[in-house]
Amino acid sequence: MSENWYFYEPAAGHGLAHNPFNAIIAPRPIGWVSSLAADGTRNLAPYSFFNAFNYTPPIIGFASVGRKDSLNNIEATGDFVWHLATRELAEAMNASAAGVDASVDEFELAGLTAVPSRVVSAPRVAEAPVAFECRRTQVLQLQGSDGAAVDTWMVFGEVVGVHIDRMLIVDGIYDTAAARPILRAGGPADYFGIDAENLFRMARPE
Ligand SMILES: Cc1cc2nc3c(=O)[nH]c(=O)nc-3n(C[C@H](O)[C@H](O)[C@H](O)COP(=O)(O)O)c2cc1C
Repeated sequence: MSENWYFYEPAAGHGLAHNPFNAIIAPRPIGWVSSLAADGTRNLAPYSFFNAFNYTPPIIGFASVGRKDSLNNIEATGDFVWHLATRELAEAMNASAAGVDASVDEFELAGLTAVPSRVVSAPRVAEAPVAFECRRTQVLQLQGSDGAAVDTWMVFGEVVGVHIDRMLIVDGIYDTAAARPILRAGGPADYFGIDAENLFRMARPE
């Protein structure tokens, strides 16, 4: 339309050095998800196609691009645990993304401590300052605008148990920045960190 605008239709390719899609929808929170295989093998992996979708009941979800172990496990057992990925745990989170066989315990791979959850069967990462125990609600296979099935599945879960390190609760208010969450950015190795100076306030219109 104009030389000031770059336009492309994704089905025909982006034509740039790197696909901008992930860099535009960024930074993204990370769904750091633990689950159990049907045979009891522990599993842990990060998913940045992740977000919260409802307040009551609280529902979160992530997209498995291809059938991955987390999806298979959550289909089999019906539950999972989400963990907050923080600056302190960044390297462990990254280690847990290794494309290893389903028989490998990523808690061990990443040097993390697995502790039992309170409500669900999947174990929790003891080192994570926040964790949500979740029960699977829906698994939806995505489809394109032509109605054809895409090799990606959305996994939704209801949060049925919430663990928060008391250090992060100040006068009854959860201190987002104090946890030093990390978010996924565009490039293959890019992340953003959240600190108190990133905060600004804007009241909603009535
Ligand atoms: C920060 C980060 C975000 C990721 N986000 C996704 C995602 O949204 N969807 C996906 O399918 N894989 C994603 N991956 C890759 C998976 O973590 C990787 O394929 C992992 O081995 C899957 O583990 P699993 O088979 O044990 O579930 C991401 C990796 C990293 C490091």
